[in-house]
Amino acid sequence: MKKLVLSFVLFSAFLVSCGPKSTAVTGPKYTSSEQLAQGKTIFENSCNKCHGLPNPTKHDDQGWIKTLSRMAPRARLNDDQHQMVYDYLISVNKK
Ligand code: HEC
Repeated sequence: MKKLVLSFVLFSAFLVSCGPKSTAVTGPKYTSSEQLAQGKTIFENSCNKCHGLPNPTKHDDQGWIKTLSRMAPRARLNDDQHQMVYDYLISVNKK
């Protein structure tokens, strides 16, 4: 029982410490064609300002999680736009 209480306390601490970041993109969320089209538009408008538009096939699904978490703040995307761009990229990267 003591162990159970301890793991509960640790788990709650974990939840609290990760709270505000829970909206970060960790996998697919949007799948409708409207949302994917929106993600494409955001991608085409926001990701060619500092370099050429990257090829979506450059990364697999995991790779885009990492790269987008660095690039979305640079492109000043909000969490939802970040997510839509991610879902668009993995819908066309074929990896
Ligand atoms: C404010 C400028 C800026 C914006 C906007 C920007 N990038 Fe970048 N990007 C960079 C710079 C600088 C590098 C090279 C250094 C690095 O990799 O961090 C880079 C590198 C990259 C790379 C190559 C490195 C890798 O991990 O493959 C990819 C792919 C990429 N960006 C994708 C994107 C996408 C997608 C967006 C739109 C969400 C975006 N970038 C918006 C500045 C920007």
